[in-house]
Amino acid sequence: MRYTCSTTAPPSAEELHGLFLQADWARERTPGEIATLIANTRVFAVVRLDGALIGYGRALSDGVSRALLDDIIVDQDHRGKGAGKLIMTALMDQLAGIEEIFLNTGSHLEAFYCNYGFRKFPGLTMVSKRAERVQPPREHDPATGR
Ligand SMILES: CC(C)(COP(=O)(O)OP(=O)(O)OC[C@H]1O[C@@H](n2cnc3c(N)ncnc32)[C@H](O)[C@@H]1OP(=O)(O)O)[C@@H](O)C(=O)NCCC(=O)NCCS
Repeated sequence: MRYTCSTTAPPSAEELHGLFLQADWARERTPGEIATLIANTRVFAVVRLDGALIGYGRALSDGVSRALLDDIIVDQDHRGKGAGKLIMTALMDQLAGIEEIFLNTGSHLEAFYCNYGFRKFPGLTMVSKRAERVQPPREHDPATGR
């Protein structure tokens, strides 16, 4: 497969919304929220095949001491063909020199991330509860009156 990888041209919100529908943690994000996410993300990797978005990953970082990898995903029809490696290599290249890089994953992907120097963190990682997702108001249905 001739995948291309860009670290300068972000995907459109609509494209990324399509990919995020495959991700448990991101499928509820709206295109509007994703547009904000894209606008506020400086470190990312976009993999395409014949122009179509098939992989994405990003990092939040202060550029010196800490970075957090997130939203690393390859389209389900393209997994196991090297796109994830392209994404991780492009992200880690951009984060060269950062003191510590964190990510949160399941044990089934421990081996995948070990390839890029990640090891289980011995400390206690804490997280605050995610904000409640605000549901958009339901439209009135004249047929049912509800
Ligand atoms: C995880 C994910 C991004 C990997 O992308 P991918 O395109 O399938 O990975 P690649 O084909 O580039 O594989 C790269 C290397 O990692 C290895 N690898 C891939 N998936 C692996 C897994 N689940 N466990 C261990 N190794 C794995 C490959 O064998 C390959 O090794 P090699 O370089 O020695 O040949 C992809 O499977 C995915 O999108 N999963 C669903 C979303 C997800 O869970 N994202 C991670 C959130 S933390």
